[in-house]
Amino acid sequence: MCGIVGYLGSKNVKNILIDGLKELEYRGYDSAGIAVLENENFSLFKATGKLVNLEAKAKDFETSSFSMGIGHTRWATHGKPTELNAHPHVGVQTYIVHNGIIENYQEIKKELQEDGVTFISQTDTEVIVHLYEKKLKTIKDPFEAFKATLTELEGAYALLLITKGENSKIFFAKYGSPMIVGANENGEKFFASSDAPLIGHCEGVNYLNDGDYGYVDSDAITLYNKDHHKKDVSLSSLPTNKLSAQKEGFSFFMEKEIYEQHDVVADTLRGRIKNEKVVFEELADTFFDDINEIKICACGTSYHSALASSYLFERYAKVRTSVEIASEFRYKEPLLLKDTLFVVISQSGETADTLETLKMAKAAGLKTLVICNVDNSSMVRLADASILTRAGIEKSVASTKAFATQMVVLWMLALLNAQQRNSISKEELSKQIKTLLKVPATLVVKDELHEKLKRLSKRYLHGHGFFFIGRDVFFPLALEGALKLKEITYLHAEGYPSGEMKHGPIALADPELFTIALLPTNRLYEKTKSNVEELSARDSTICAISSREYDKADDFIKIEQSDHYMLEFFDMMIVVQLLSMEIAVRLGNDVDMPRNLAKSVTVE
Ligand code: M6R
Repeated sequence: MCGIVGYLGSKNVKNILIDGLKELEYRGYDSAGIAVLENENFSLFKATGKLVNLEAKAKDFETSSFSMGIGHTRWATHGKPTELNAHPHVGVQTYIVHNGIIENYQEIKKELQEDGVTFISQTDTEVIVHLYEKKLKTIKDPFEAFKATLTELEGAYALLLITKGENSKIFFAKYGSPMIVGANENGEKFFASSDAPLIGHCEGVNYLNDGDYGYVDSDAITLYNKDHHKKDVSLSSLPTNKLSAQKEGFSFFMEKEIYEQHDVVADTLRGRIKNEKVVFEELADTFFDDINEIKICACGTSYHSALASSYLFERYAKVRTSVEIASEFRYKEPLLLKDTLFVVISQSGETADTLETLKMAKAAGLKTLVICNVDNSSMVRLADASILTRAGIEKSVASTKAFATQMVVLWMLALLNAQQRNSISKEELSKQIKTLLKVPATLVVKDELHEKLKRLSKRYLHGHGFFFIGRDVFFPLALEGALKLKEITYLHAEGYPSGEMKHGPIALADPELFTIALLPTNRLYEKTKSNVEELSARDSTICAISSREYDKADDFIKIEQSDHYMLEFFDMMIVVQLLSMEIAVRLGNDVDMPRNLAKSVTVE
């Protein structure tokens, strides 16, 4: 997730671009850049790290006449957070900023390299600018060349392009990544990835649709739809509150992050499934050679995704997999054997305990892999290989979208391993891949569901505790549900394997004990149901989550009927996240910054 801005007009372009980027910094801040075209002269500034670095570099630069510029704040997905990989990317006479992922960039890059083009960055974006300049050689009209470029791009993009041949036009296109264009009566035009940078500048804005493209100049916004029909540009008014604009209309970052899970999971999958196979460019073909065992270390939510993945690694890849809480692993004097792949999972890449286990594994000579959301974090720098989860910045302390993206990466990794070990049939692999591709749609939050959870939440504000129960991968999900609830409601909650309740915890059962039962129909339904019935018989208040009606529950939350337990997993994940959030809201708690917690735990 990155942020882009654009401006055309007579004000000091740099200030407008950098102020706009400040509003978008929450979308990514590992590098930033601006390109400005004034009187046929380009100026380019790029810097790694936060925007203050870019501001410092560009401090003496100003425009004094009509000009235009584009800017970008980056959250690395392809290529390290370096200055060369920072946007805008440049060809000979063209500059571009892009948010999204070009899935077929390798194919395009290969062709361009065969034509003699030299690439200076590792990004997918750079192919767009060179492809455009290649088109320009034969299609002399700059806008027609832009159109022709778009037809070759696969994946997601919101992009802005400025080129020397067109000194008063910004070209734009949107497909799958957000972009807004705005205007005012002075003829100024603005672009941004979300509302916040436009507030106070524009009289009206147009939220572009997928497939829209066109150009702006001081006279007008010229807009075409995906079928290449010219559209009338209708401008709507903007919200007035910048913080709420950053939250994109949601009340909390947690809510926004729950709602954007379908998008970030789609980004995480993008380009990683080809011809019904999993492909991780980040891993050499030989990466799993000589590996007989996998050991995963993590903390908190990342530990829960690790635990869930251990079922998938053993089930599909038939590889022995163990999972450990990092703070325990550090001091247990663990046996570290060279044929073990050591995996750490971390949203931040900075969690002290997890980082320490990675150092231990490195010191013992094990091959290491990190699954992480932050490029250039300590863990990414240290591990032999890394896979980025592409969740974008997670602001809420209670982790949601990081968990969802970790889960899909881990599931893909299990399938990759299974492919390479031939431990999965072609038919099963194909079924799994098809199921994986359905995950983004499963993660779209339905209004009726959210409304129901809002209503239901009022019944779960008291009582002496919650048990989240499930079997198989639904046990780690139960742990995750309980953790979410604890973190933001401050109510006591535990996650338990449902078959384990009768070994002690069932003694707590009474009407004041709330059981949140994860009852998937595609995995051990009857077994889990029996466990729920044992609790119901002892008068625990039961809230069942299932696609199959269940009349022994006091409350029932229906999820979609599907043919795979992993789709039920993601469906239930949304339910437990939203339920916790709605209870916290009713209790009047600070949802995004709960008491006693920090987003990144860099101390032991
Ligand atoms: O950044 P990490 O994934 O390494 O963080 C691990 C835990 O601190 C984190 O998941 C924590 O449990 C969250 N607050 C959970 O919502």
